[in-house]
Amino acid sequence: MTKKIYILNGPNLNLLGKRQPEIYGHDTLADVEASCRKVADEFGLDCVLLQSNHEGAIIDWIHAAREDGAGIVINPGAFTHTSVAILDALNTFEGPVLEVHISNVHKRESFRHHSYVSLRAEGVIAGFGVEGYALAMRRMGSLLG
Ligand code: DQA
Repeated sequence: MTKKIYILNGPNLNLLGKRQPEIYGHDTLADVEASCRKVADEFGLDCVLLQSNHEGAIIDWIHAAREDGAGIVINPGAFTHTSVAILDALNTFEGPVLEVHISNVHKRESFRHHSYVSLRAEGVIAGFGVEGYALAMRRMGSLLG
């Protein structure tokens, strides 16, 4: 069976391309999905990109990934810095978890410097713009290959 990667996105990322483009750029989440699918095809992986502004929805998708997901790429948005519940959910998932931030969170406000998700993630990409997602998918390909 083709291995499926869940690409999960947290609050406000539905506005990607419109929201603070000086920080997050002009590409949309649809562009991100297209670039991830390209890499997934290259590695013979399947992928699904999901976004929610609600913490519980993200937790439910992590639970779904427990059933049929081989890996998770996650940009939890602001939940990165606040959500023990997302960390707990990720700790129930057995495959690789890669954390992506479009901006370089370490160059920004100090409250963005701490990530609960990093306690679980195999790797973290920050500050590579939306290209970070495709890089994470590439890494997923080599971890699962
Ligand atoms: C973000 C960084 C977070 O601090 C912020 O709350 C976001 C996006 C990023 O991709 O750079 O919503 O995760």
